[in-house]
Amino acid sequence: MSDQPRPAAPQGHRPHPELFSWEFAANPYPAYAWLREHAPVHRTRLPSGVEAWLVTRYADAKQTLADNRLSKNPAHHDEPAHARGRTGIPGERQAELMTHLLNIDPPDHTRLRRLVSKAFTPRRVAEFAPRVQELTDGLMDRFAGRGSADLIHEFAFPLPIYAICDLLGVPREDQDDFRDWAGMMIRHGGGPRGGVARSVKKMRGYLAELIHRKREALPAEPAPAEDLISGLIRASDHGEHLTENEAAAMAFILLFAGFETTVNLIGNGTYALLTHPGERERLQRALAAGDRGLLETGVEELLRYDGPVELATWRFATEPVTIGGQRIAAGDPVLVVLAAADRDPERFADPDVLDLGRRDNQHLGYGHGIHYCLGAPLARLEGQTALATLLTRLPDLRLAGAPEELRWRGGLIMRGLRTLPVEFTPPQK
Ligand code: HEM
Repeated sequence: MSDQPRPAAPQGHRPHPELFSWEFAANPYPAYAWLREHAPVHRTRLPSGVEAWLVTRYADAKQTLADNRLSKNPAHHDEPAHARGRTGIPGERQAELMTHLLNIDPPDHTRLRRLVSKAFTPRRVAEFAPRVQELTDGLMDRFAGRGSADLIHEFAFPLPIYAICDLLGVPREDQDDFRDWAGMMIRHGGGPRGGVARSVKKMRGYLAELIHRKREALPAEPAPAEDLISGLIRASDHGEHLTENEAAAMAFILLFAGFETTVNLIGNGTYALLTHPGERERLQRALAAGDRGLLETGVEELLRYDGPVELATWRFATEPVTIGGQRIAAGDPVLVVLAAADRDPERFADPDVLDLGRRDNQHLGYGHGIHYCLGAPLARLEGQTALATLLTRLPDLRLAGAPEELRWRGGLIMRGLRTLPVEFTPPQK
């Protein structure tokens, strides 16, 4: 970490007052620019009441994500008694499903990540491309003839949940239950009281039973396209020590980490394209010419410009550390603001400009270090397929209403739209 003292905030200036308000949720970037410049490692009180450090500069963010003095294990949080259970930090109540990759450190993390990496290879994901295309077309068929749709609920939301269920090996007839449970979880407190906890409980019960059933029915030799849960059970049965609880927690984190993120990649990405007509036409021309290069760099740019994960998940100082010249005490929570780092002018030329052809684009949208997104190949596949199919099948796709009318979800970690109403000319049959 750099030990350079951070520049002091100018006299008379207070930290940007808009942090975590509704206006901030609609466009947090001006506030992040202010923080990056004046208070790049900034202690703030979150809406839940817990105090945490926000890290906003790219160089500090990258180093922080890879710093092994910061633990992912919430047990290292020096949690004040009055805040217990209300902070949004995973607690003991949810312990069973919460002992997953994003909440553990080496050596457990190394062992579990190795096991799942074996079952979740880029080759497996590539073999999955025809299924993702089929799912995408099937969902679009349901609304394409209508001339209007809510792209979040009818498209961005179901696509990743069905894709992950297929990959995990959740039988098709059970996938709508998953869709409902996941819907409840994404709505956070918005659903009926206790609904989120009930959904997590149902998912846990279902996963435990599915793992049990698959273990009973596991053939001696792996099938060529064995599902992920069977692959995990096989790995654990070969002496690599994956307990049934760890397997359930792994299935849960794959669903959880791969779901809302991809919803937001499709939602934020479509929104950015619809509000940048020049870039969207550029991409449509490239796709019409059979050139997928701009789609590949374009999806990376959409991740940098307005990515699904606004803040990386919780980290806790295990000893006093200095980040960007700021001393942080042991036990303090640290949140790396990926959305701020990815617009840092010290790292990216014209960071507030959307340039789908951007080459020098090592964004932090998938994180960095040992917790780097395991599902990045699947996310890229889904994002590229969804956006290319939308723009090709519905060439005059446009927002139904003014951008200012759109509402963004208020959660801390993720950034995404609640709805995305669009209009288009129905394609000729
Ligand atoms: C566009 C979509 C996605 C984005 C932007 C994204 C972003 C991220 C980020 C930023 C992290 C690191 C968090 C941190 O260090 O605090 C992460 C970790 C992770 N992601 Fe993703 N993700 C996406 C899709 C997926 C998908 C589709 C899956 C799997 C099905 C997935 C599975 C995971 C897992 C398992 C981890 C934890 C890895 C570890 O701790 O070792 N993600 N993701």
